[in-house]
Amino acid sequence: MRAAQIKQYGHADAIQLARAPKPKAGRGQVVLEVFASSINPVDAKLREGKLQSAAPLGLPITLGVDVAGIVDSVGEEVLDFKAGDRVYGMASPLSGGSGAFAEFAVAPAQMLGKMPQRSSYTEAAAIALTGVSALQALTHHLDLKAGQRILIQGGAGGIGSIAIQIAKFLDAFVATTVATEDVEFARSLGADQIIDFKKHQFEDLVSELDAVLDTAGGEIAQRSYQVLRPAGRLVSMTAPPDELLAQRHDVTAMMQLTEVTTRRLNALAKLIDDGVVTVHIEKTYPLSQVREAFAEKESGHVRGKIAIEVRRQS
Ligand SMILES: NC(=O)c1ccc[n+]([C@@H]2O[C@H](COP(=O)([O-])OP(=O)(O)OC[C@H]3O[C@@H](n4cnc5c(N)ncnc54)[C@H](OP(=O)(O)O)[C@@H]3O)[C@@H](O)[C@H]2O)c1
Repeated sequence: MRAAQIKQYGHADAIQLARAPKPKAGRGQVVLEVFASSINPVDAKLREGKLQSAAPLGLPITLGVDVAGIVDSVGEEVLDFKAGDRVYGMASPLSGGSGAFAEFAVAPAQMLGKMPQRSSYTEAAAIALTGVSALQALTHHLDLKAGQRILIQGGAGGIGSIAIQIAKFLDAFVATTVATEDVEFARSLGADQIIDFKKHQFEDLVSELDAVLDTAGGEIAQRSYQVLRPAGRLVSMTAPPDELLAQRHDVTAMMQLTEVTTRRLNALAKLIDDGVVTVHIEKTYPLSQVREAFAEKESGHVRGKIAIEVRRQS
């Protein structure tokens, strides 16, 4: 089968389209015929070797975490899925999968869910990690309630664009930071207050918030403590909490490690099928152009997601 692999760490040009053996399903695992995947920031971090100490892996590595496709075969003790099922989730080499940028991939069954009926494979793959990240942050760690006020940092990105839609569904007041060119996009997602981060400091425009979700990284999380009310909550996707700042502002802060589970994927699929959430795909590349897909994502501004089509969908 064809697989987009790295044999050494590096930039996008380290990726090669190689021939690899079709993987087999071990206990608790599923082999999928992959139809689609998408690019996430973690794919580039893995490719560059930045995760080596946290997750040592042998080379070559097939890249790709998000996956959508059809179950080809299942291993022992897999009860929830059977050959022919349409599924989506994670086939991450960082968490027991074989990598989704390939014609077949192994995934742990507990990281797969039934495909949303309304989604194409490409749409399902483009929302798996980001959608579960948004859902976990808002409903679990932030426990966002109707009428509460939240700031979503990075509202035009993969996680942010889904988080705005879920937060509005929960009847929260949503402020969000986006680049100038994404102001209308954020409005179309339902955000109530849109802050152009190229023109304004968010600290000047919001205060006394119940919650902040940081997806932007850099110093954004550090600057976000001051816009929370006492006992407010901050979840960062990118930075560990600063306990001194948390104490000074009397808030709770944490860094989320997203756990993609069948239960969360099924909850996300329901939100998609109910018309609550849609994913914005900026561009779709075929598997043969994974390098170009990375180059576009890393060249700067992407609205929503870049998808990878592994198998043509009719
Ligand atoms: N901890 C975990 O388990 C976990 C899971 C998933 C993801 N993550 C991490 O979470 C982060 C977000 O993921 P993602 O998929 O949403 O990434 P993404 O699609 O690249 O989104 C990041 C967004 O932040 C925006 N941004 C950049 N600078 C900003 C600023 N100063 N103020 C406000 N927004 C700004 C970007 O806008 P422009 O494009 O205009 O620059 C972009 O829209 C990544 O670092 C990823 O690795 C962590």
